[in-house]
Amino acid sequence: MSRENEETIEIYEKFGDRYLERNEKAIKSDSRARLEDESQKELLKVYISGLPKDAKIFEVGSAGGRDAKTLKGFGYTNIIVSDVADYFLEKLKDEGFLPIKFNLLTDDFNDKYDFILCWAVLVHFKKAEAKDSIRKMYEALSDGGRLALCVKCKDGCEEEWEDFQGQIGAKRYFSYWTRSELEECLKQMGFKTIDIQQYDGVRSGWLRCCARK
Ligand SMILES: C[S@@+](CC[C@H](N)C(=O)[O-])C[C@H]1O[C@@H](n2cnc3c(N)ncnc32)[C@H](O)[C@@H]1O
Repeated sequence: MSRENEETIEIYEKFGDRYLERNEKAIKSDSRARLEDESQKELLKVYISGLPKDAKIFEVGSAGGRDAKTLKGFGYTNIIVSDVADYFLEKLKDEGFLPIKFNLLTDDFNDKYDFILCWAVLVHFKKAEAKDSIRKMYEALSDGGRLALCVKCKDGCEEEWEDFQGQIGAKRYFSYWTRSELEECLKQMGFKTIDIQQYDGVRSGWLRCCARK
């Protein structure tokens, strides 16, 4: 595991409350953040459409459980909710989930899944770590299974430590991808169909993606 990822996890352990509060406040007070949240739900609906309600789903890095709640709301019943940070595991329990502690870099998937969700997690990985993790998730998908992920993009920037608008009080590590880099990586892994959309979010640009094995 890189120092960059380890130190970022420590920031989440220490300031996870500020991270979740920032997101909740933004949705209440900022119309762009609300729009981003809504479009995220719509996208998940598209990404998961056609899968049966008992499809096996694994979410990596669930944080406060926003996306797991959305999937539950769509009627999905078989969702493994996980995070590496103990702070988030406690929050997820408060929300009624039975989360597992899972580090994408060091833990193995013990099963095959129809849908793996890895939203804004690889943003905290060095590129080589992210590529290995995408391979690991590919291997953990059933035939025809789908991987939904998002990474950040920023013109002319490969990586940085940042605390966007000082909202958390400590800098986290971020790596940035280009669309062609992500597409090439997913193709090389063997994904058959790849849908990537660029989205200009409130704090940064995102590459939102769903790829099918
Ligand atoms: C930017 S947050 C995204 C949270 C959530 N998926 C979302 O979209 O709101 C990054 C998440 O990745 C998790 N994370 C960071 N490093 C990880 C690792 N090595 N394995 C699993 N999760 C990790 C953090 O604990 C945190 O929950």
